[in-house]
Amino acid sequence: MLRTLEKEAVVMQEARRLYGLLHRVSKSQNEKWTLEDCLAAAPYTLAINRFKKEQNAVILAHSYTTPDLVYGVADFRGDSYELALQARESAADTIVFAGVWFMAETAKILNPSKKVLIPAGKAGCSLADSITGEQVRALRAKHPGVPALCYINSSADVKAACDACVTSGNVYDIAQKMPGDKLIFVPDMFMAENIAEELKRRGTPKEIISDGGSCCVHDKFRPSEVKQLRLQYPDIRVLAHPECSLEVCRECDYVGSTKGMLNYVAKSDGKIFGLLTEQGLVNRLEAEHPDKQFVWSCGVCSYMKKNSLINTFGALVEPRPEQVVSVDETIAAQAKKSIEKMFELAQ
Ligand code: 13P
Ligand code: SF4
Repeated sequence: MLRTLEKEAVVMQEARRLYGLLHRVSKSQNEKWTLEDCLAAAPYTLAINRFKKEQNAVILAHSYTTPDLVYGVADFRGDSYELALQARESAADTIVFAGVWFMAETAKILNPSKKVLIPAGKAGCSLADSITGEQVRALRAKHPGVPALCYINSSADVKAACDACVTSGNVYDIAQKMPGDKLIFVPDMFMAENIAEELKRRGTPKEIISDGGSCCVHDKFRPSEVKQLRLQYPDIRVLAHPECSLEVCRECDYVGSTKGMLNYVAKSDGKIFGLLTEQGLVNRLEAEHPDKQFVWSCGVCSYMKKNSLINTFGALVEPRPEQVVSVDETIAAQAKKSIEKMFELAQ
């Protein structure tokens, strides 16, 4: 009886810790995280944090995953670039990547001796799934001598077929550094248009040859939504991810990576912000900037949201085969060159 009461006290203490972090965070448009939600999460966060220590594991969480993962169990939270760097430098035995498949695959490529687990299993990404390595090689054959960049949201085989990969945080600088006045960029057709516009603005224009698709979250935003936000909130600052269309980005005050948007808000003297990105980023801003207001204009990435406390716990205790990341060694070696080139060019 006493044992049970003691256990309940530990769970309540953990729930209060979580609630202290999450009470400002939206669960949907009209609901915030409640103490009851945190009480339901607490047994899992306690168990995951204990298993993590016992197994010398580290948990990396992308900002688009749910706040109970981001603030309850993650050792590092961030954007694609920051998490790839953390994975590359990690001394842990196991890397648990709460994100989508291409992110966990990148972690395995960069640190192949580690066990890499992804709670969500084969969680795709509409961009990464839009083009194959074979299609990229065919495109390159049509444009001999033209350098090729791929967005990190791509498969290992696509990375292997390109000279370097980029993230949303370094895409413009790396595109500018590539030789010649033509550039192949895959697989984000919207980002390709944003690159062309930015390089023209910088006075170093290039013809961008692109193929692939778009992000099924960011391609939904429309310029009319930005105009509507400005009419409703005259002092609003509107921020967008470069996976949004050129027409949308032209209407915004800032366009950048998820980390770039976090930094913009932290430094801004503005009080109200409109976010054209995924809900998880707004959740981070709500948690970290209680003095500022965030207007939702957000989408939800169903791939990122496949990660949960339950499947993170399961992956640590007894991973299912689809939660264990492996990459063909020949493809991994070639893809690694393209990712390492990014680290070199991002300096
Ligand atoms: P960031 O690298 O900016 O976090 O973007 C990753 C992503 O998938 C955005 O949709
Ligand atoms: Fe892919 Fe879009 Fe989801 Fe990012 S938000 S992981 S680009 S589907």
